[in-house]
Amino acid sequence: MLKQIDIPENDPVAVADRRALIDEILAANKDRPGGLMVILNEVQSKIGFISEPMQLYIANRLHVPVSTVHGVVSFYSFFTTTPRGRHTIKFCMGTACYVGGAPQLIEKAKQVLGIEPGQTTKDGAITLEICRCVGACSQAPVVVVDEDSHGRVRPNKFPQLVRGLTEPGGN
Ligand code: FES
Repeated sequence: MLKQIDIPENDPVAVADRRALIDEILAANKDRPGGLMVILNEVQSKIGFISEPMQLYIANRLHVPVSTVHGVVSFYSFFTTTPRGRHTIKFCMGTACYVGGAPQLIEKAKQVLGIEPGQTTKDGAITLEICRCVGACSQAPVVVVDEDSHGRVRPNKFPQLVRGLTEPGGN
């Protein structure tokens, strides 16, 4: 029996084909050693995020406390609890980048996109994130767009970076 929480109607748990996919992943992996981790990985990669209702659903189906599932999801940064955008822009907040102007860049990003780090634009195009040192300190401040690092990014260059992602061909 599911503990009662409000489940948004677009949550994967409330959408038949998404829930069927979660059930399929559960059935295939629940008896494996380390099954919970495998299940969460599969759900993250096939659905793109693991919302609170999804965590509760998985916990109930595996007969483990929801705090166990929540603990794993919040410990590993590759799990997300909300949908990600088609592109991710990460701001390095290691010491060199912090000193080199990362906070000003983040301010600019907030102005340009109207969202905070940890959020996704309404059109689902871009997610902003903060990350730790990516090992390119001499290029500070560093911004990682999807898999590509950009060094010495100045706030006035940020709109150009975003345009490359949102213009036709940037998807
Ligand atoms: S501190 Fe940003 S790359 Fe090292």
